[in-house]
Amino acid sequence: MKSEIVRLLFSCEDFISGEEISKKLNITRAAVWKHIKALKEDGCIIEAHTNKGYSLKETPDLLKPEYINKYLTNKDVCVKWKNETDSTNTLAKNAARKGEGSYTVYTAEHQTAGKGRIGRVWTSSFGEAIQFSIIFRPNIAPSQAPAINFAAALGVCSGIKIAYKQDLRIKWPNDVVYGSKKVCGILTEMSADMDRVEFIVCGVGINANQQSFPSDISDRATSIRQIVGEKIDRVRLAGIIIDEIVKYLDLYEKYGLEHILPQYIEHSAVIGKEITIKCPNEEIIGVCTGFGRNGEIEVTTDTGKAYYHAGDVSLRGVDGYV
Ligand code: BTN
Repeated sequence: MKSEIVRLLFSCEDFISGEEISKKLNITRAAVWKHIKALKEDGCIIEAHTNKGYSLKETPDLLKPEYINKYLTNKDVCVKWKNETDSTNTLAKNAARKGEGSYTVYTAEHQTAGKGRIGRVWTSSFGEAIQFSIIFRPNIAPSQAPAINFAAALGVCSGIKIAYKQDLRIKWPNDVVYGSKKVCGILTEMSADMDRVEFIVCGVGINANQQSFPSDISDRATSIRQIVGEKIDRVRLAGIIIDEIVKYLDLYEKYGLEHILPQYIEHSAVIGKEITIKCPNEEIIGVCTGFGRNGEIEVTTDTGKAYYHAGDVSLRGVDGYV
């Protein structure tokens, strides 16, 4: 109900009376008052005027559904929020195991045990980054799952472009980068049997409002705030990005990877470049000459073309490999 009240307050240019809210939402005046009080406690700045009613002046910097929903266009998206959790991916996987459906999104202000790819740790300070995990239940074979990374990374790039007019690139499989610095990491996990995927959890961590990074990663990481030089509206950015990711997941599910591949290639930081790809048992140097139908990277070396499903790519930059 809080979401509906926020939506109503947002939708009117000036004041809206308690009576009008109660009529439109079919709740009592006392319930309206109770929800307005709760919103104020949350950090909303709501002006109240005896004759005119309520006017919403400001919403808090929290990734809660009542504030994010405003930016969502797909009615199937359902945002669930926690102030703190170990990992939104773990939260989403547990919920998916209990039957939670596609496009339920878990957001949190802080993770105590955020996970990165290949067993790495993902850390961020309270309220600075954007972190969320989306449940997705496509009707695909496990071998096709890596393609989900393409949809998610494209959604992140597109959302940042819409919200802050910045063109970011994708370092295969799904790091979103600005020059040689990482802005966003994506951890895609799945539950599947040999034939079919049961569910996928796509976890997204975006450096949004960090003004600096620890010295060991400051040459490899940046935030949207550092790129645009102003404080980021995390809620708006998260909402727009979630909406865009869901749009690309939908396109992927309906039309397959071929449909979104041209856009992925357009945003690729590695296509046509000399790269090093570190796989568990080997390290290959070659040129990235394309991507396979399930999201593999195509690398051309002196001995011909080869496709890799997973690995860590580094790219020859101005100062060597980054
Ligand atoms: C990487 O680049 O290694 C992937 C990082 C993914 C981080 C996100 S933050 C939200 C979600 N929850 C996690 O524990 N990890 C992902």
